[in-house]
Amino acid sequence: MATATDRAAGLVLDAAAQDLLFRQARSASEFADAPVSEAQLQAIYGLVKYGPTALNQQPLRIIAVRSGQAMERLMRHLNERNRGKTAGAPLTLILAADIDFHERLPQVFSHAPGLRDVLAADREDRVTQARFNATLQIGYLIVGVRAAGLAAGPMIGFDAAALDRDFFPGGSLQSLLVMNVGYPRAKRFARLPRLAYEDVVQAM
Ligand SMILES: Cc1cc2nc3c(=O)[nH]c(=O)nc-3n(C[C@H](O)[C@H](O)[C@H](O)COP(=O)(O)O)c2cc1C
Repeated sequence: MATATDRAAGLVLDAAAQDLLFRQARSASEFADAPVSEAQLQAIYGLVKYGPTALNQQPLRIIAVRSGQAMERLMRHLNERNRGKTAGAPLTLILAADIDFHERLPQVFSHAPGLRDVLAADREDRVTQARFNATLQIGYLIVGVRAAGLAAGPMIGFDAAALDRDFFPGGSLQSLLVMNVGYPRAKRFARLPRLAYEDVVQAM
């Protein structure tokens, strides 16, 4: 249910959607035994792709791992607690930043044709930009997963250098996060507290 404050503030999104995307949504670590289809993942991406990025660069790349040999490889790079969570998830995403996003700028930012070459000469800047903007896109992705009635279980607890050597030997992709996706089982613990508006927002 939306609170009285939300209603008074006139949030445009209906209360059920607010609950689905934010108030009731939890980070999932245990999942029901139900698959997440390719069509569902496509529908999620169909929403998430509209989230903004600098230069419209869209550096997020997603490797969808469901089972088999790729999952065995991925498991080796997760820390032990996250391995258990991933074993019970129907879908696991490796979320990576494409350091060579500049190659697509002529397509996605075509009104500034010189940018591709400027960025081609500055890998360090591309790494900073790609990691920042792909991280933003991961935020959109978490909300997109929730919009599909699913739950996300993001995990930073993995050996990124080892994962990158294994999955991305070419060097143009850098992993940022591993994320389980599925229909969540009930959480075993209550929501942790969030900071209050006054703790976060400073009016000047
Ligand atoms: C970037 C990121 C990394 C996280 N890494 C891990 C992790 O490695 N292992 C884990 O169990 N939970 C991980 N979490 C889950 C957080 O602890 C969880 O999202 C947070 O406590 C809020 O929980 P709630 O959504 O249920 O309120 C991660 C979450 C985020 C957003």
